Amino acid sequence: MNKLIISIDGPAGSGKQRIAKYISKKYNLYHLDSGILYRRLASIIIKKKINYKDNKSIQIFLSSIDFLSARSHLKLRNEKISKIASKIAIIYEVRKFINANQKAIVKKKLKSYKGCAVDGRDIGSKVFKNANIKLFIRVNSEIRAKRRHKQLIEQGEKSIYAQILKEINLRDKTDKNRLQSPLVVPRGAVIIDNSKKFLHTKTLIDQALHKIR
Ligand code: DC
Repeated sequence: MNKLIISIDGPAGSGKQRIAKYISKKYNLYHLDSGILYRRLASIIIKKKINYKDNKSIQIFLSSIDFLSARSHLKLRNEKISKIASKIAIIYEVRKFINANQKAIVKKKLKSYKGCAVDGRDIGSKVFKNANIKLFIRVNSEIRAKRRHKQLIEQGEKSIYAQILKEINLRDKTDKNRLQSPLVVPRGAVIIDNSKKFLHTKTLIDQALHKIR
């Protein structure tokens, strides 16, 4: 039986995670949020006070661990971790480690699931170049900042819209301009506009995925 891989890439706050959840639920696939691995690594680096700007320290640290859990946790979504995750994501050794980690998770999950929906920045362009279906999620940065701001307020965190917009623009810049696996629209990807209500997005996704059935 052929196993299915769906890649869902897009910038910070584009809603790719919600889309990946929707797809995995609808088609009974395992959902891997690759950003969580960068966030988990960033959180350990902060806790252990490792100097992420020093390649040697990062390499020593990476050789001391062999697997990262992809389990999601709200604590991993705060702004400090987001910032450090984006910074460590430019490091070649970090990407190599996390890519291998992702492949191991997917390989394991494909034993019990008929497929995986993986969301991130470089899934269709790099990690799973042979994904059966590639999606790229687009939303302008103002809408993403508004959504993020609302979410932080609802979580009881302090948030200033202008600051969030600035951080999102900065993160986009880092993600798009880094040398290692920059954020790009993968070749052959279907672009999904997630600026409107989710109901609208769902229709676009259903249209893009009709061939699964
Ligand atoms: O999707 P996210 O915001 O949870 O991702 C956190 C950070 O991890 C983001 O700044 C970029 C990085 N990332 C990446 O470089 N490649 C991925 N496949 C997923 C995330």
